[in-house]
Amino acid sequence: MSETTAPLLVVTGGAGRIATFYRRWLAGEEDGAPATSNWRLRLVDVREPSANRPDDEVIAGPDADMSDLANVERAVAGAHTVLHLAADPSPRADFYESLLDRNIKATYNVVHASVAAGVRRVVFASSVNAVNGYAASRQSRASDVPFPGNVYGASKAWGEAVCAAYVAQSAGSFSAIAIRIGGVTARDSVNLEVSAEMQALRVTYHDLARLFDACVNGAPDVTFAVVNGISNNRYLRMDLEETRQLVGYHPEDDAFALAEANAKRVGHV
Ligand SMILES: NC(=O)c1ccc[n+]([C@@H]2O[C@H](COP(=O)([O-])OP(=O)(O)OC[C@H]3O[C@@H](n4cnc5c(N)ncnc54)[C@H](O)[C@@H]3O)[C@@H](O)[C@H]2O)c1
Repeated sequence: MSETTAPLLVVTGGAGRIATFYRRWLAGEEDGAPATSNWRLRLVDVREPSANRPDDEVIAGPDADMSDLANVERAVAGAHTVLHLAADPSPRADFYESLLDRNIKATYNVVHASVAAGVRRVVFASSVNAVNGYAASRQSRASDVPFPGNVYGASKAWGEAVCAAYVAQSAGSFSAIAIRIGGVTARDSVNLEVSAEMQALRVTYHDLARLFDACVNGAPDVTFAVVNGISNNRYLRMDLEETRQLVGYHPEDDAFALAEANAKRVGHV
């Protein structure tokens, strides 16, 4: 596929940690990444991205603020797929100070404008916080109804619901996948200094990139799904069976094994 005809993938939050890794992954620069990607990229963020390539489009600064619908309409124009990562990622974020604009309005705007622009699919970065109100001893399933443990998690549950509402209204022309992302960690930073519960929630950047690939490139029959985004951990705080079946996710890392290996490497055990 030539550069000019490649479909356009818009990544919101394109300067963030997860987007920065995924841009490198799409460029084939990360261990295990596919050598080529068929996408043209447009990175959108109020901050200037650092991992963009010369051929990427970048919308940065105030015109990239996703809490403004007109900005979002421009940002998603012509997109085939939108990976919506822009948000305040803090579970302690204040509602009026931050979440209302960055997580509530921005997500509504992205989904609304995407449907209006004929975007085929939105992949939405939800969070385990959408379901961390359930008892910690209970393994969370992707089909669980939201039970957020904090207002940030409620903002992610809102995003899942907005995706579902627009899929319900769009008669098959639009699809959405919400990923309940666990604790994102670089492989070499996984350590033993967390509870087993936290370890069991971890997802490496590499596995999350695999899941993004599965959601943006594959799963053509999915109209709406919520999937779980953690690594193939020895103990799975979130079930991965439905996610494997729905989108063909094949995680390769185990946070428990990585933590042990990293501890040995630095001489802690
Ligand atoms: N990092 C994690 O462990 C984790 C876990 C679960 C879910 N998530 C979700 O994944 C996504 C990305 O997380 P991250 O860790 O890369 O966060 P990050 O803070 O590094 O990146 C988010 C980016 O979004 C941008 N942004 C925020 N509000 C914006 C707006 N209104 N308009 C335009 N850009 C805006 C920020 O400038 C930032 O660059 C977020 O939606 C977050 O809630 C992250």
